[in-house]
Amino acid sequence: MRPDIAELFELDPALTHLNHGAFGAVPRVVREAQDRARARIEGAPMRAFRDELPDAIAAAREQAAAFVEVPTDSAALVRNVSEAVAVVLESLSIGLGDDVVVSNHGYPTVSLAVQARGGSTREARFGLGASTAEIVAAFTEALTPDTRLVVIDQITSGTALVLPVREVAAAVAPVPVLVDAAHVPGALPVDVEALGVAFWAGNLHKWAFAPRSSAVLWVEAQRRGGVRPLVTSWSHGSPYPASFDLQGTVDHSAWLAIPEAVAFWHDLGGWRNVERNADVLQRGARHVATALGTVGEPSGIPSPPCMTLVPLPDGAAATPDGAEALWQQLHAAGFLAPPGSFEGRGYVRLAAQAYNDDDDYARLAETLVSLVGRA
Ligand SMILES: Cc1ncc(COP(=O)(O)O)c(C=O)c1O
Repeated sequence: MRPDIAELFELDPALTHLNHGAFGAVPRVVREAQDRARARIEGAPMRAFRDELPDAIAAAREQAAAFVEVPTDSAALVRNVSEAVAVVLESLSIGLGDDVVVSNHGYPTVSLAVQARGGSTREARFGLGASTAEIVAAFTEALTPDTRLVVIDQITSGTALVLPVREVAAAVAPVPVLVDAAHVPGALPVDVEALGVAFWAGNLHKWAFAPRSSAVLWVEAQRRGGVRPLVTSWSHGSPYPASFDLQGTVDHSAWLAIPEAVAFWHDLGGWRNVERNADVLQRGARHVATALGTVGEPSGIPSPPCMTLVPLPDGAAATPDGAEALWQQLHAAGFLAPPGSFEGRGYVRLAAQAYNDDDDYARLAETLVSLVGRA
């Protein structure tokens, strides 16, 4: 870990953190900003909720929209992508008899949200080496006359891939597309409005350094009138996206710290920091794969700058139970790096953030070789 950068965070120094994508890490200054917001509210809750929060939330929302480079009136604040997905499913009244197309790389809880409402999910299936044409074909082949929505992950979680959202959206039109962009804000530059999709939702707590419970839901102009928050409260009747600002008495302090998080992302170097992390990650992943003897295996689909899969030797973490056991062994050895299996093959997903350096991956390589051997 880079000590000068690691000290800006509050991560446990006894561990090597190679999994920033999972839950992010809140920088000290951002946590302090959230603490200040809480203290201000506690100083006079009545004043805060009555007179201050409406404007402060609107300002945070505007900063979040600016951060993902979309117009102020197009993006609402939500607590996480799961909430955004629920909002979208409700806005389309997804239920019994409706199909929603997801992919075999999609985040499992999105499918659960569809199924919990009585809808059915159909899977677009493709492998790690798929071409754009094959991915597009997988999505179009999964469509049925009952398909009401297509969900595509812009950065996949388990497999760390960047999927061709624009091409898939064009191919499945006029079926509306929801982009699960949970990993995207602060990790991948995107022109959201040019994707040709109906909905786009991204977490700010992963790569944008915001406290957890901070996410953005973007909705295309013609659908904004039909999108409502899950909880009806004092913002009811306000136009989208202000309609999402007040959903009863909850802790708004995470949203209030979004401006500090955005400032921290810029102070670290913004996209230059992302490029630096991508270099460290590529070198680190190559080093780990070389040590394991698995260099040169799949991936036709590009990886995002921030996360990538490294194949493990045959048989290692090849099942969910095997992956869980390896997670526990890595944790016991002082590493947070998630193993996972995809189509019977084991991988470890590596991430890079500013606090990581080459040494983190070199030490992980040694440990992995001692745990799973060489191919
Ligand atoms: C691709 C993807 N979608 C959705 C989610 C759900 O995000 P949350 O738990 O913040 O709602 C995650 C979380 O890691 C994710 O990686």
